[in-house]
Amino acid sequence: MKIRYLFLTISFFTFTFLSSCNTSQIFKPEGLTISEGFKNPLGFYNSEPTFSWKLPVSVKTKSQSAYQVIVASSKELLPNNPDLWDSKKQLSSQSTFLNYQGEALKSRQKVFWQVRFWNQDDTISEWSDINEFELGLLNNSDWKAKWTGLDTAKDSIKGVRKFLMHKPQYLRKGFELSSDVASARLYITAKGVFDVHLNGKDVSDDVMPPGWTPYNHRIETITYDVTKFLETGKNVIAVELASGWHSGRISRGRALYENFASPKLLCQLEITMKDGTQKTIVSDKGWKGTTNGPIRLASIYDGEVYDANFKMPNWANSQFNDTSWDAVEVEEIDDEVKLEPKRHSSVKNKTVINDAEIVSEEDNLVVFNLKQNMVGVPKIKVPMKKGDTLKIRFSEMLLSDKTFYTKNYRSAHSTDYYIASNDGLIEYTPKFTFHGFQFVELSGFDKQAKPHSSWVQGIVQHSNFESNGTFTSSHDKLNQLQSNITWGLRDNFFDIPTDCPQRDERLGWTGDAQVIAPTALFNYDTYAFWTAWLQSLRENQSEHKNGLVPFIVPDVLQNKNGGSGWGDACVIIPWDIYNITGDVTVLEESYESAKKWVGYYQSKVKKKAYIPIMHSFGDWLQPYPSKSLKRGNRGDTPKELINTAFFAHSAHLISKIAGVLGKTDDEKKYKDLYKDIANAFENEFFDENARFKQERQTQTSYLLGIYFDLFKAETKLKAQNHLLEEIKNADYHLGTGFLGTPILPKVLDDMGEIDLMYKILFKETYPSWFYSINQGATTMWERWNSYSKAEGYNPQSMNSLNHYAYGAIGQWVYERIAGLASLEPGYKKIRIAPIPNTSFLNAASATVNTTFGEASSSWKVENNMFYLDVVIPPNTTAEISLPTSDVSDLMLNGQVFKEDSDLKMIGSNKILAKAGTYKFQSKFQIND
Ligand code: BGC
Repeated sequence: MKIRYLFLTISFFTFTFLSSCNTSQIFKPEGLTISEGFKNPLGFYNSEPTFSWKLPVSVKTKSQSAYQVIVASSKELLPNNPDLWDSKKQLSSQSTFLNYQGEALKSRQKVFWQVRFWNQDDTISEWSDINEFELGLLNNSDWKAKWTGLDTAKDSIKGVRKFLMHKPQYLRKGFELSSDVASARLYITAKGVFDVHLNGKDVSDDVMPPGWTPYNHRIETITYDVTKFLETGKNVIAVELASGWHSGRISRGRALYENFASPKLLCQLEITMKDGTQKTIVSDKGWKGTTNGPIRLASIYDGEVYDANFKMPNWANSQFNDTSWDAVEVEEIDDEVKLEPKRHSSVKNKTVINDAEIVSEEDNLVVFNLKQNMVGVPKIKVPMKKGDTLKIRFSEMLLSDKTFYTKNYRSAHSTDYYIASNDGLIEYTPKFTFHGFQFVELSGFDKQAKPHSSWVQGIVQHSNFESNGTFTSSHDKLNQLQSNITWGLRDNFFDIPTDCPQRDERLGWTGDAQVIAPTALFNYDTYAFWTAWLQSLRENQSEHKNGLVPFIVPDVLQNKNGGSGWGDACVIIPWDIYNITGDVTVLEESYESAKKWVGYYQSKVKKKAYIPIMHSFGDWLQPYPSKSLKRGNRGDTPKELINTAFFAHSAHLISKIAGVLGKTDDEKKYKDLYKDIANAFENEFFDENARFKQERQTQTSYLLGIYFDLFKAETKLKAQNHLLEEIKNADYHLGTGFLGTPILPKVLDDMGEIDLMYKILFKETYPSWFYSINQGATTMWERWNSYSKAEGYNPQSMNSLNHYAYGAIGQWVYERIAGLASLEPGYKKIRIAPIPNTSFLNAASATVNTTFGEASSSWKVENNMFYLDVVIPPNTTAEISLPTSDVSDLMLNGQVFKEDSDLKMIGSNKILAKAGTYKFQSKFQIND
């Protein structure tokens, strides 16, 4: 906390100092991005981007009154001759997601742009720095290459779990360049996962590109700038290719696409020489390949087998002789499958955990503890003897005898093997698999060697996004919860949002994604990550003519079923994204899909009006399910109630979305539909006193009805009282599963029951958030009781120790405890309204990098005084509510508070503030 206050103080002074130095000009816009937050991207996917910029932080810039954007096909044309677009001066405060309205852009095009703005006093800024982007190959017809590879289906082998596996391939092609290279682009993708090298060098640090999409609809392509790798004379492109998600064992089946088809590579290397000539090298019949390389097997669930005896020195260099290698087979590009530039960043190696601790050692077997449940691969450095096999096992936690708890990996073998070709130290990091683990066991190393903690490091991998928000407080367990939430997010954002990273699933479960999206968007810049996955969702939805959204996306289950609370991801996530970013594009993109999903509900209404009869996973994993109802993991809230509630909610959200998009007919139509469903909901499931008709009462039945606004005004209060009674009956514990938990804080907050929510959040006993922390959790767990020190592991094998759904509480933590929330889409208006509960903590703070710039709220209570430091970015305003009814003694920046042009009282303890940095101080009544 102290450091944070020091920082705020320094930034306040810097801010004042800088602003006093510049009396005659305003600074230039900064932080320029296009579409979902891309900075100068290469191989960009969208020829109709939007533009966003941030106004500089300065006392002179409260807001924007006008802007001008200029776009050109070369740097030299800016700012005077923008040949692609000149928006001219537009009187508008819009500084985010401005639609490009210039000349049509095409594949490979390089585009340069700049922006300037006028502030509230019509003072003009300087032009921003020039930013740029380059488009990838936007159409299948841009590709001259062919799908290329060996037929590994015919000699596939049985893997450890008896599933057929393709052998990884090594592919190469030599070529000559007669003059120096001016620039070169490599466009590449695979049906499978690849690692590409040019003249022996790694072209990129992407992990398992191109990632995972519904491959029968769309495969993402990647563009690399490879100018620096090419030489005059002999060159070679060399690619390692493995099954990945395309041709490997995923979900309950094996490879689902094209009947166990062999992995294939598609690449096109386009070279411009210094003399202006062009040369293109494509994947085609001229390539050679082998499956006799060192990676013998690779499977996402099962791990990798690496045999150093099969190393092929220099195979990726031009001097290597590949005459003994096999000829490849080729396939034409299928026009049905779209090839599109990847619309979010690949997975990367993001962090290294290098303080492993040895926890046990016996008989050529040693166990390392990385002290954090993580996702990625190990980096192993260990002495071995020629011919020996190193076995590398993983687990998330240990059993009481310090052996591995792996029952929860279910059929995932999750083991890597390294076979040594020489005596001595080996270094090994698996390439085409990933694991969810905290513990690593090594066996088969040199028996003479004394195990050392440096033998194992953990390489943490996730999609390449950065932190976007922070939360910290004076309470250690709350900070641990925040850490568990953020680890749980990163660990499960492996190209798509996955349910878990360790067992034989790692699938894009839509329900889990739906509940975590707001917390994820606050903590990490995951806008592009989400919209990429939503595109996959729409592709899988349109496969099902009746609007069904599958349980998982990409839909490898293909079971033609959909569930309430899960399929609604196609409505709820776009709405959340819009509210957090302020970008309407996501609503436009998702609108038809959202309507189709509501159409699916309608098609499932059979006997009773507005009550759909369809599948639901229910309030998944609700604690203490009743024995008599026999719903097990699905909890005690009946699926008909959940179906009807989400049917109404999705219809309601569509009405709101239609309002934003100006579709007035739909706005009314869906509002009417929502009202009708709400009526049916109340009549069917609740009596005239708003009591849930089922004998077994549930918190979730009330939560859904209240949060989705399904009760009549006169009965809502009664329903709220029943909910409070249920919570009291549970001794202020959670009685909720995946669907009820995320909305509990929202409902109690709306009811003004903030202290009650604190009480539930800070409970230490089962079921509660701190319970798992007390049992040693370093990530979020799938179940409230996945493990306990007293009773050990939950007996069910479906027991992931890294499952983000319950982390959805993160939203309330930063919005209410730290008090930082978006009040108008995209934080255009910010709500700063912390409500401290000093029985639990005396300080909390959050920062978020909004599309307008950084906003923060940081409070502490000390000696009966309340201190609140606030940063409001330019071009936004904030409503600041102080948690005290008496503001007569309010101080601002060390002076008695006075209203001025930047700050206006709009209620007894509420201030409307313009952009700036403010330090408030007032008396505070400590709660008991
Ligand atoms: C997954 C979940 C998912 C659920 C559906 C599980 O196996 O891990 O998180 O939402 O199935 O009920």
